[in-house]
Amino acid sequence: MTLRVSVIGTSYLGATHAAGMAEFGHEVIGIDIDEDKVKVLNAGQSHIFEVGLEPLLEKHTATGRLRFTTDYTQIADWADVHFLALGTPSQANGAADLSQLHAAVESLAPLLTEPCLVVGKSTVPVGTAMALEARIRGLAPAGDAVEVAWNPEFLREAYAVEDTLHPDRLVFGTHSRHALEVLDEVYALPISDRTPVVRCDIATAELIKVAANSFLATKISFINAMAQMCQAAGGDVTLLADAIGFDNRIGREFLNAGLGFGGGCLPKDIAALAYRADELGVNVLSDFIHAVEAINDGQRTEIADLAIEQAGGDVTGKRIAVLGAAFKPGTDDTRNSPALTVADRLHAAGADVRIYDPEARLPPREGFTQVASVEQAMLGAEVVLHLTEWPEFRQLDPEKFADLVKAKVLIDARLKLHAPTWRNAGWKVVQIGRAATM
Ligand code: UDX
Repeated sequence: MTLRVSVIGTSYLGATHAAGMAEFGHEVIGIDIDEDKVKVLNAGQSHIFEVGLEPLLEKHTATGRLRFTTDYTQIADWADVHFLALGTPSQANGAADLSQLHAAVESLAPLLTEPCLVVGKSTVPVGTAMALEARIRGLAPAGDAVEVAWNPEFLREAYAVEDTLHPDRLVFGTHSRHALEVLDEVYALPISDRTPVVRCDIATAELIKVAANSFLATKISFINAMAQMCQAAGGDVTLLADAIGFDNRIGREFLNAGLGFGGGCLPKDIAALAYRADELGVNVLSDFIHAVEAINDGQRTEIADLAIEQAGGDVTGKRIAVLGAAFKPGTDDTRNSPALTVADRLHAAGADVRIYDPEARLPPREGFTQVASVEQAMLGAEVVLHLTEWPEFRQLDPEKFADLVKAKVLIDARLKLHAPTWRNAGWKVVQIGRAATM
């Protein structure tokens, strides 16, 4: 059955979800306070670099099944289901900043005169959904006929469309049979017959999302701690990860040691979980998460220190080449990018940092120069740092750069380059936790 669906917020999550809902056959209106975004999206274009998103936007804005607006009166009583897809960034103390969610609710709720379901997709501290429901019911003329449910989103950047159309699982957090039936209908076709659906209470749904992200972060920090151990003992962390990953209970994914995790989600979501755990007196969880965070921060410091050491203990005025600026390959997103933290540290230590990324465009910032090619980054460099593992960096021919650089020193912080090829071309290659023979 075709439903009328609104999606509030049109960033990574909202734009992709709106396009996905249209692809599932619903009539969709996306809403955002940013007029420029709305204009771009209504023209069937994407304002973010995300594979497969633009074709979906183009297809469904052309048929009229999908449109975007800045006007809440167009969605309020029109939609059967309102999805909240607002950002919940970190505050300085680690707590989630819920102001975008609150602002959306303040705009929407007073216009709701008919029964409807408001479904949260944003990642929130446990307890948020019920507080929002109380607020909405207080503001809405329809009162208790408006219900809140939580349906967290697990999409990865660079795979956002794929993850939306073919999710690993769906989570429906509800407190009434009616809400559950509506969510079943939203996802009825074509995916729910082959996708596991976890139907649960709202608090569990809120927690599932942060638990998933915390577990992923834990895997990464664990393998990075093992990389330190391999480094100290002369072992090889990549082979170790392969070997333990063959155990189905462990699994090989998210065991790539390197510069650690970054981006707009994992760091902020685990910080918010730690904060909420402290609020609820669950210190055993916040302590655990702080340990995961400390390992992750330590990786960035260590690589910056290593670069300084390889440059002879002082980088003042020395040129350093940085390959990669995005927080991971396949995206132009540089939020909380480990690569940029390292670059910033080196700049602060006096280095002349030249940074190249195939997709990320950095706003002009003091201290480092973004260049348009690997060659330009390498020119005159005394240390070369591989910080984001774009596939194209694996194809680089080290012979080509021998005359460009000042010193043939490569720090492969992501452990993804073929070290023997570089060593054969006369380079010194440093990889934390990889045996030098590999
Ligand atoms: C993540 C979650 O995967 C997703 O489910 C959630 O909805 C949002 O947060 P995303 O931020 O797009 O998605 O990135 P992801 O692919 O999970 O990578 C996170 C970070 O971990 C990246 O910085 C990546 O480089 C790093 N990483 C990942 C590692 O350092 N090692 C690994 O083995 C895997």
